[in-house]
Amino acid sequence: MGKICLCLTAKTIKQNLEILNKYRKFTDLAELRVDCLDPDERLHIRRFPELAGLPVILTIRRDIDGGYFTGGEGARVKLLANGLAYANADSRFNFAYVDIEDDFEVPSLEEAARTFGTRIIRSYHNLDGVINDIPAKMKAMSRAGDEIIKLAFSVKSTTDVLRVFKASKALKGQDKIMICMGHYGIYSRILAEKFGSFLTYSSALSEDETPGASGQMDVRELAELYRFRKITKQTKVYGIAGYPLKASISPWFFNTVFNLQNTDAVYVPFPVNSIADFFELAKELDVQGISITVPYKEAVIPYLAKSSSVVQSIGACNTLLRNGSEWLGDNTDYTGFSASLLKFLDRKNLRFKKITIIGAGGVARSVAAVIHQYGGKALILNRTVHKARNIASLYNFRWGGLDSHGIQSMSKYCDIIIQTSSVGMEGYEEVDPQPNPSHMDAGSHLDPLELYTFSGKEKVMDLVYTPAETPFLKRAAAAGCKTINGYDMVIRQACLQYAIYMGAEVPHQHLSRIKTMGANAWNKIRSG
Ligand code: ATR
Repeated sequence: MGKICLCLTAKTIKQNLEILNKYRKFTDLAELRVDCLDPDERLHIRRFPELAGLPVILTIRRDIDGGYFTGGEGARVKLLANGLAYANADSRFNFAYVDIEDDFEVPSLEEAARTFGTRIIRSYHNLDGVINDIPAKMKAMSRAGDEIIKLAFSVKSTTDVLRVFKASKALKGQDKIMICMGHYGIYSRILAEKFGSFLTYSSALSEDETPGASGQMDVRELAELYRFRKITKQTKVYGIAGYPLKASISPWFFNTVFNLQNTDAVYVPFPVNSIADFFELAKELDVQGISITVPYKEAVIPYLAKSSSVVQSIGACNTLLRNGSEWLGDNTDYTGFSASLLKFLDRKNLRFKKITIIGAGGVARSVAAVIHQYGGKALILNRTVHKARNIASLYNFRWGGLDSHGIQSMSKYCDIIIQTSSVGMEGYEEVDPQPNPSHMDAGSHLDPLELYTFSGKEKVMDLVYTPAETPFLKRAAAAGCKTINGYDMVIRQACLQYAIYMGAEVPHQHLSRIKTMGANAWNKIRSG
């Protein structure tokens, strides 16, 4: 079973001990990042293992390896020697591990470490990306004794993560730590056990300390939500694939249910930039079920061996179930959305209702199909007009752009307004590469309908749920409109996914607990 290592990156020994004490129950070992300490504090590291009371890694990370140590190598050797000096016969008073880079050549120091039972972590960091021949590098790094090999790469794609995974799998019987730094590698940190890693590094992110490296997860999140210490080779893996995936509530939902049910399963975020490589990785990791989100709901369809009638008629898929070596596709947005909308409106159908749909992506396809099914008429407005037309033409709806002309057409379609685009979603601004139309000002990346003035009579639904109230929804509510965000819908569709993955419903008592926790529950857990 993997271990959780808490990276201590505070400026003083005292602060580090305070953080360690606060998160001790989530921590198996700590890494003292001497490079983050104030220079005066660095002189007092020798007693740290004794004060910490658990195994500690001594690390002085150079700036070229992503750390903060900018002094010369001589000064670093001196500090390392200071940390390893006066070794105590009781090994609990010594550093349990010392991190020494692959190009570090000071035999006397290594000798001292070995003599007193301090295990060497032989590390190699590459901040530029993944090297070509990882297995050869690993072989070259293997030395005598019981050293642990650590390779840390900044990963920039799904392909990079796949390469690291395959290399790790090839080198069996060697204690190693394989790290995919950066957002694309986030699940490799949760699934360290599957990646063959001896430990995973984490940070106390809620303490406002610098994370030890890019992509490190919060120690509490890792231990409590993902139940990292219970993940074994047998644990079933599920997850959500998309990008940017910073605002998805699904990992919280599924892991909370797994936890309440005591199911040996974990659900992880898979930030993805290549669907083809992701399917290969999913096979390698033996992933059982995958939720699909922005922007891949349409792109996954060619990879399905079978798809439900809803997927076939709508042309969007948000649920994949593994069946041997094949994937079966379903769509739970459709039912989740229709149930949520009808409850919000307190109606059984949409007859005589004129509705505007904002956006023409994967989820808009489900929304349009539901409106058609329940007898409503719609106008679809989208930044990319031909996508609005494509969907509208399936149901004889109207379409337009998010410009003044499109907004004018809304006067006849304003009983209900449904916002399906990613605009306003947390983390979204960082990723959308497309410029907005020239009429939109600088703030429009948060409100797709800013040219529209609400009368107060519209019923408004924004399918975004993080933040709980987007600028668009806030404006509608301020004008007197009845509003709802996408939380109810996302929980409904997630329950349907759970039933597909697990072959059973989410137990009622768990569901009511989850519902009352609300859309911001996860953020609350995070901030402690
Ligand atoms: P989903 O599966 O949630 O529907 P998607 O298929 O990626 O996600 O669709 C995202 C939607 O948000 C699209 O309608 C997209 O418009 P484009 O088709 O023009 O890309 C819309 N969207 C994203 N960013 C936008 C922005 N800045 N302004 C207006 N619409 C935007």
